[in-house]
Amino acid sequence: MNRDLRKTVIAGNWKMNSLPSETGAFADALLPLIPGFEKWCEVVICAPFVMLPSAVLAFGDTGVKVGAQNVSQHAQGAYTGEVSAAQLCDSHTQYVIIGHSERREYYGETDKTVNEKTLAALKTSLIPIVCVGETLEQRENGVTFDLVAMQTKIALKGVSKEELSRIVIAYEPVWAIGTGKTATPEDAGEVCKAIREVISGLYGKASADGVSILYGGSMNDKNARDLLAQPDIDGGLIGGASLKPEAFAVIVNAANQ
Ligand code: PGA
Repeated sequence: MNRDLRKTVIAGNWKMNSLPSETGAFADALLPLIPGFEKWCEVVICAPFVMLPSAVLAFGDTGVKVGAQNVSQHAQGAYTGEVSAAQLCDSHTQYVIIGHSERREYYGETDKTVNEKTLAALKTSLIPIVCVGETLEQRENGVTFDLVAMQTKIALKGVSKEELSRIVIAYEPVWAIGTGKTATPEDAGEVCKAIREVISGLYGKASADGVSILYGGSMNDKNARDLLAQPDIDGGLIGGASLKPEAFAVIVNAANQ
């Protein structure tokens, strides 16, 4: 982390877990465990669409932000089952995860749709959390850096310098997601640094230095502190551990270093 240059973000990705009726109890359990968090990080809970209103209600004006896990690339119209960026904003959602590897793997999202969704989110006040990351096969073939560079470049196509300042990137090695296998802090930090260099090549060093780059993939209450100590890791996108208020609170507090 480097709090002088950019914000730290600890974002929970609840995926398709929990229930709307359980959101209040989660907030009640979490909030007393993270007093003063706003001094060192932004805390975001990314919930399923149907749970956004209950999450907004539960977190109210506590400072915890609410995010969605997907958004349509289209502004409006005949797209049954989709949710637009404007609809998310109007529901007081402030963040949105874009291009999570599960969306890429199971729902056919591509670098192109990730770019379109990023542009659609940026047309509103939403803050996109754009996910990039390699599979195990890609890592073993030595193409991690090329792959994340390509994903990052395509995701940012058509994004202005001003818009870049609102974007968060999440580096999530696919082989580490939900597997209990974490990249070492050094390996994760190195890829995050490489992503920042790609952004620097596109927008200049000052702009790149301002972008928060998160690590995701089995981040938990045990390994968060070491991962967050890396200078280019500016927070975490946390799946499993974000469902447990105690574990998530430890991660939020580990960002206070
Ligand atoms: P995990 O998920 O923490 O359960 O590995 C991270 C993510 O998919 O965002």
